[in-house]
Amino acid sequence: MPKTPAPAPATPNTESSLVPATSRLVRSLAVATLVANIGIVVTGGAVRLTASGLGCPEWPLCTPDSLITTPEMGVHGIIEFGNRLLTFVLAAIAFAMVASVWKARSARPDLFWLSVAALAGIPAQAVIGGITVWTGLNPWVVGLHFIVSMAIIAVAVVLVNRAWLSRSRLDTAAAPLAGRTLRPVVWAIAVLSAITVILGVIVTGSGPHAGDHGAARNNLDSDLVTRLHVVPVYLLVFAVAVALYLVFRRGADRRLRLSLVIFAVVLLAQAVIGYTQHFLHLPIVLVALHMLGASVMTAAAAHVVYTGLSRKVPGAVAGAAVSGGPVSGAEVSGAAARG
Ligand code: HEM
Repeated sequence: MPKTPAPAPATPNTESSLVPATSRLVRSLAVATLVANIGIVVTGGAVRLTASGLGCPEWPLCTPDSLITTPEMGVHGIIEFGNRLLTFVLAAIAFAMVASVWKARSARPDLFWLSVAALAGIPAQAVIGGITVWTGLNPWVVGLHFIVSMAIIAVAVVLVNRAWLSRSRLDTAAAPLAGRTLRPVVWAIAVLSAITVILGVIVTGSGPHAGDHGAARNNLDSDLVTRLHVVPVYLLVFAVAVALYLVFRRGADRRLRLSLVIFAVVLLAQAVIGYTQHFLHLPIVLVALHMLGASVMTAAAAHVVYTGLSRKVPGAVAGAAVSGGPVSGAEVSGAAARG
């Protein structure tokens, strides 16, 4: 007698609900957005640290008569123009990201608007980059260019987190993972990280790596601003120690503990790089590493804030699927009906 196939074991709700609510494409593009935005900080750093900031002395053209670099502009022209070209890589990723969530924009407005924000950062940075060239690398404009990149990285971190959210977390009106005592500490980590970065770009503006040998400096006392730059770092070490004590003593959620451990490790590594580059008189490799460290630390801080303080995704439709390919109207509206 032919055997009747045994019924497939019912998948426990908890297991199926751990599945991310987006397609692999959407999740990959979100990660690519984050990685590309960190990457362009480092290549921008290479422009500054090789004194190629005016390798293309005009913007949006490279030279008064050429859109692209010319042999006369030499290696500096190639480096500066190469960095300009990377904008198109960033733009391609950002457009693909928006397109991948386009049809699900009413079900997942969070993913849609975060993707749009990452895309909007590109023309904003192109214009600030242009003003940087027009002002002959004014250190305050160069600093603003760096800080806007940090803001885009923070947006990309939220985008990655939202893209990887499981269906169950989308559906649950969860309280923030950080308890009442921890919340102000998480905010302190966010604010102190921002202050550290802002003071960092001011130190750079007073230092030797101007991006071009003739570029103006902010004329502040480098040693003094470096000392000021380090004050919020010590406060951060204290804040993260308090946060770690609270989460481990109270057995807080694993995701929150992990985000704080990652932040602590990145903070300490960045502080070691900072001191080493300072005492070795700013070798360009370490300065580039410090720029990478600042980007990764900004991402880690944004992750702590997101993990500790986020609640249910505002406006998201419970159970909504984001396929990344052409999502049928029925799929999205069916999800909307369930919500
Ligand atoms: C641990 C957290 C830290 C963060 C997030 C951080 C962040 C930054 C940032 C964003 C910049 C500007 C980069 C740029 O404009 O391209 C910078 C520059 C700088 N930082 Fe830090 N920093 C940290 C720790 C330190 C420490 C502990 C020192 C020790 C002295 C230090 C020394 C410097 C120096 C000397 C510069 C100027 C480099 C230059 O002239 O190009 N930093 N930092």
